[in-house]
Amino acid sequence: INQAVVLKNGVKLPKIGLGTWQVKDGDECYHSVLAALKNGYRHIDTAEGYQNEESVGRAVRDSGLKREDVFVTSKLESHIKTYQGALDAFEKTLKALQFEYLDLFLIHAPWPWSEIGKDCSSGNVEAWKAMESLYRAGKIRAIGVSNFDPSHIENILKHCEIIPHVNQIGYFIGLDQQKTLDYCASKGIVVEAYSPLGIGYLLSNPIIGEVAKKYQVSPAQICIRYCLEKNTVPLPKSTHEARIIQNTQVDFEIKPEDMKVLEAIKGDPRRWN
Ligand code: A2P
Repeated sequence: INQAVVLKNGVKLPKIGLGTWQVKDGDECYHSVLAALKNGYRHIDTAEGYQNEESVGRAVRDSGLKREDVFVTSKLESHIKTYQGALDAFEKTLKALQFEYLDLFLIHAPWPWSEIGKDCSSGNVEAWKAMESLYRAGKIRAIGVSNFDPSHIENILKHCEIIPHVNQIGYFIGLDQQKTLDYCASKGIVVEAYSPLGIGYLLSNPIIGEVAKKYQVSPAQICIRYCLEKNTVPLPKSTHEARIIQNTQVDFEIKPEDMKVLEAIKGDPRRWN
């Protein structure tokens, strides 16, 4: 679980992280993060937009682990697309976490969630320049983007100096992200996979169920292992300790013929309501 993926700048990223999207601030988030850290996780993913940074920071402090032994990611809110706005938002994140530095900070999305698809090319460059200056000042160990497709990253590369270390995207069985995976691999950008279980909807897929039976593991473990086979860093979310533990027990290999079966599954099972 804590085998490292090495980022372009040499920083080590534990290969599985705990996702905290939709985990409620307060007891729920605090106990999930604490359970994860107690059971070997050393990588926690949060965001300003999840509104639970305070609980994540508190759990990391209360875990008894050294700050430098836990890799924590947070994200710049999607509507902040100015240089000063990004600097201010970073300080707010650091304060909420009560940390002196952050391991990884990501631009949460190429556009505000309220205006998906909007062209924010110049705003993303502004925000990225702020990320670069925070990185150079030693306040963040690595910087990246999230939900960016290759064209959004090209825009950054054209106008900025540092290539993002990470791109965090929604990635799970059935969701075709091959273009982004290939593009990121060509630039040395590590891809993190959020919603590796398709926010839970993949767990009742009968084909995944069959493959799970064959390997004597759970469907969740197949989904997580699939992301690892694809050289991505999965960020499964759970608020239940037994599942948090199960999601790290993925030390097996899916044979190429079974990967083909899983790759043949197409479509996004997430239902938004
Ligand atoms: P819960 O938090 O109640 O455990 P994703 O990581 O793709 O967003 O999926 C998260 C969803 O999958 C949550 O609803 C979570 O529920 C559920 N989940 C996480 N791990 C497991 C597991 N090992 N078995 C069953 N459900 C799981």
